[in-house]
Amino acid sequence: MNLVVVSNRVARGKPNEPMTGGLAAALLPVVEKTGAIWVGSSGRVRDGSLKEPFAEVEALGAGALAMLDLPAAHYGGYYEGFANSALWPALHSRADLIRASRDDYASYREVNAFMARALLRFRKPDSVFWIQDYHFLALGAELRDLGVTQPIGFFLHTPWPTRAVISGVPNHRELIEAMLAYDLIGFQTEEDCENFLAYVRDDLDLAVRDGVVTSSFGRARVAVFPIGIDPERFAQQAAKAMTHPDVTRLRRSLNGEKLAIGVDRLDYSKGLGNRIKAFDKMWMLYPHLKRRVSLLQIATPSRGVIEAYGNLQSEIARLVTDVNGAHGEVDWTPIRYLNKGFGQSVLAGLYRTAQVGVVTPLQDGMNLVAKEYVAAQSPADPGVLVLSKFAGAANELDAALLVNPHDIDGMARTIASALVMPLTERRTRWEAMMTKLNTHTIQQWFADFIDALQSTHDSGDTALPEPPTVWPRRASDVAARYH
Ligand code: F6P
Repeated sequence: MNLVVVSNRVARGKPNEPMTGGLAAALLPVVEKTGAIWVGSSGRVRDGSLKEPFAEVEALGAGALAMLDLPAAHYGGYYEGFANSALWPALHSRADLIRASRDDYASYREVNAFMARALLRFRKPDSVFWIQDYHFLALGAELRDLGVTQPIGFFLHTPWPTRAVISGVPNHRELIEAMLAYDLIGFQTEEDCENFLAYVRDDLDLAVRDGVVTSSFGRARVAVFPIGIDPERFAQQAAKAMTHPDVTRLRRSLNGEKLAIGVDRLDYSKGLGNRIKAFDKMWMLYPHLKRRVSLLQIATPSRGVIEAYGNLQSEIARLVTDVNGAHGEVDWTPIRYLNKGFGQSVLAGLYRTAQVGVVTPLQDGMNLVAKEYVAAQSPADPGVLVLSKFAGAANELDAALLVNPHDIDGMARTIASALVMPLTERRTRWEAMMTKLNTHTIQQWFADFIDALQSTHDSGDTALPEPPTVWPRRASDVAARYH
């Protein structure tokens, strides 16, 4: 089997380089080991003919990394436009933030078609294609259109919302029909899977039996594959990172004070505002915790040119300033707020240094920071995870202190209780979570998905008798419709 993994963002394999995405960091060790070729965006754009994809290919462990320059004329409409201003807010149930133009949609489809053409270069008779995430919902259909008959799977790293919310995305119907060209569609949680199938059943009026959808593309199986991490590798990284200069400096600066840590992309789905308000509330409710605990909040800038992200950046900076102004002292800063990314090998040490990990998104597909925080702890003296019940990780990590991220008072009290949790309880909870992490590793996730993809393809009918009537088959048809 020749595995071709596709995602917008790829990891370049250097542990000290900051990575903004859970996806890229999670896939790296498995791609390195399995010998897959990983195709994604180079982060650069290129003018000229869309017919000639340019890829820079380099070795990545036993596999390879192919980085494509995406078409300059369509990149903005694809990435900042349709993917991150229409799909991302909808997938995180923020219908109020959906912004999209017809040009953005046309660009999104052009980039999906461009990627499909680029992938032909890596196709072999025994290829298996595995497409990642919301940037490429229509890529499977584009590949089928180019005559690809090999197995094609898709995994969504974000949540999938209710029918009402997804219907707020322009062209939702043709996009979801296009998704049915995949042999296997994987989601993080049962709820995501149910929401998707409800749309397929009730809005597309298609037959669904035992998670298998029959459409004019043939059969597509829909199933749950919660993504994991490599807990052993992360634990080793954490132990080693304790001597890293950044980690040493942090520990020295604490002077016996306890530390809570939050690590997020600066994204409205992460609940950063409510988290900061919860710390504010905690220092108001329990003034004796001033000087006894501070928060290290790493908020990596992300998608800055999109208005909603620009607004968020100013809002969070203002909140942090207000809280520090209200509670700080000449020699004590309650919140250390950093707008930069860190490599995995430093982050692991920062997690291990913190007695509390706060992961409180309003909506999150899985949230691998939650899993990494747990894996980084010292078995003899583990910290406590405070976790939003709206993160996919809460399904497995139910031994964390689960919170409602909308309930600021409740979060304040829970964080305070985490700080005084006795060692025996911390260990019991940590061991229960580690058992889950060790059972559902990233390696297992990878193997389960590929096995299911191959068996679904072998048993299924992926021939395309007739294209669906509503889905314009080519990106060029989309463009023609709008111009
Ligand atoms: O949540 C899905 C995901 O792919 C994450 O892995 C990552 O945090 C994000 O979306 C992608 O972010 P970016 O736009 O920076 O690539």
